[in-house]
Amino acid sequence: MKLPKIQDADLRGKIVLIRVDHNVVKKGRIKDPYRIDASLDTIQYVISKGGKPILMTHVGRPRNKKTGEIDISDKTSVKPIIEYLKKKTGLIFLTPDEVDFQNHEIDNLLKDLKSNEISGIYLPNVRWFEGEESGGEKTRMFGNELANLADVFVNDAFGSWQPHASTIEPTKYLPSYAGILMQKEIENLSKVLNPQRPLVAVIAGSKFDTKIGTLTSFLKMADYLVLGGVIYNAYLCAKYGFKISGITDEDLKAAQEFLKFSDTFSDKILELPFIIESDVLEEKIAEKFRIRNIIEIKPGTKLNFILDVSTKSFELKKVKDIFHDARTIFVNAVMGFTPNFYEGTFSLNSLIDQNKNANKLFGGGDTLQEFKTLLPGIYNLALKDEKYYFFTGGGTILKAVKEGTAFGLEPVKALMRERIL
Ligand code: 3PG
Ligand code: MG
Repeated sequence: MKLPKIQDADLRGKIVLIRVDHNVVKKGRIKDPYRIDASLDTIQYVISKGGKPILMTHVGRPRNKKTGEIDISDKTSVKPIIEYLKKKTGLIFLTPDEVDFQNHEIDNLLKDLKSNEISGIYLPNVRWFEGEESGGEKTRMFGNELANLADVFVNDAFGSWQPHASTIEPTKYLPSYAGILMQKEIENLSKVLNPQRPLVAVIAGSKFDTKIGTLTSFLKMADYLVLGGVIYNAYLCAKYGFKISGITDEDLKAAQEFLKFSDTFSDKILELPFIIESDVLEEKIAEKFRIRNIIEIKPGTKLNFILDVSTKSFELKKVKDIFHDARTIFVNAVMGFTPNFYEGTFSLNSLIDQNKNANKLFGGGDTLQEFKTLLPGIYNLALKDEKYYFFTGGGTILKAVKEGTAFGLEPVKALMRERIL
């Protein structure tokens, strides 16, 4: 089974429908354009080969899960992305006003695209169309309408692992290829799945149960696993019998299950003993927080909020040695409760940067955002450093790690399915 690549496609004069993951608009504004920048290679490649691009992405989650109603508003529009593309690259993309392709508007845009009057078309947020997520006949029909607009389909949206109309259906009708970013992400993912050892994985998060599959996978696969955030708190409760404010029964239960599983691998979990206890969530106030050492806390002790890992943890020789000796480091983690509790993440990322030999791979929107906010100097250097890689997909990476392969992801499988065209 081989992944069909955009480099193998004949694009000259073709209309190329490209699924990107430009899910970077929050409340109508672009928070971090990293994902757009990461997709420029593919867009420019298509144009350089004489192809005419139609872009599409999802933005946010405009569909109300309970009522099924879709909120079509500026909050989840692709317009800020179009403006950004113009400013950054000079390319002019036009978007239809109608959220519907059964009208003359799209025909006119296609005419302008074919005669090179515009650089490309940018379709409205795909989640504004019912068929995108509904499944069934509506999804099939929407997918068919999308495919009817183009000659070739390219999926470059590695971050969008969900099997929705825009990530799956066009592959049923059009010659379909993986974009350059998609290829790059899969290659870098294999550096995590087939790592140079030792591999250290750092995983944090606000809910234990959503990450348990990934954590157990890493426990088997990695040489060391470091935990942070609520996940670490729940683990500490399960392992040492602490009672930590804010840890739900659900988290505790998941952590207990994980602990049972981790028994045979327990020396792989690198515990960070110095943690920060705070009496208040909202602020870091001098008299209201303190460093605690888990080794000195008695089982059954009630603790207030644990909101960060102390810098002191990262100064321990054992911890430093493990990070210095690693050859692969994967991070999907913000260690503290943002924005006030950041010393854990700052110390973690600083320590990792000292290791110049390791492949350092970071994934997850919050992980990248916090890195950029706290350590902009290192972040900017890292963008140009081939030992670093920043994944555009966070959830996708965790899912692929859980499954042990990128080739189980539905949109990737759809690209590889053999079909008679
Ligand atoms: C993301 O930002 O995590 C991806 O674009 C996927 O978005 P989703 O979780 O809403 O499907
Ligand atoms: Mg997400």
